[in-house]
Amino acid sequence: MNKRPANELSEAHSKLLIAAEKCCENAYAPYSKFRVGAALLAKSGKVYLGVNVENCSFGLTICAERMALGAAITAGEREFDAIAIATDTGAMPCGACRQMLAEFGNMQVLACRSSDGRVLATQLDQILPYSFRLTDDVAGSETC
Ligand code: THU
Repeated sequence: MNKRPANELSEAHSKLLIAAEKCCENAYAPYSKFRVGAALLAKSGKVYLGVNVENCSFGLTICAERMALGAAITAGEREFDAIAIATDTGAMPCGACRQMLAEFGNMQVLACRSSDGRVLATQLDQILPYSFRLTDDVAGSETC
């Protein structure tokens, strides 16, 4: 895992972070006050946005990452290069979002702390090793 300033990112990933930061303003988070913006870069080059959408029935809240994924899948995308997430704290995607993203393979994950622009850059398979799959063949892996 790698904490590095945004100026060391590729142009595409820098733009992705800016998109995540900008859409974060539209988060609907009246209960937690914790705004999340996500920008998902498909291999097609298109970017799909999502924000967290909370509900007075708290458990119905949907995370920003899954909103972005839904928008991308709805548009017919299936392959992804990276997801950028913007929050005040630099939070990483929750476990549920990691699993939903992992359905579509590995990708870069960029978590940005808006206050100082610090970015934590890693890969999805690093933050969700041994993800659930229907087809996993455990033979040959670290079994005992
Ligand atoms: N949230 C996200 O949008 N993404 C995550 O990966 C974790 C949490 C949202 C849900 C809720 O609206 C707020 O952050 C506080 O949990």
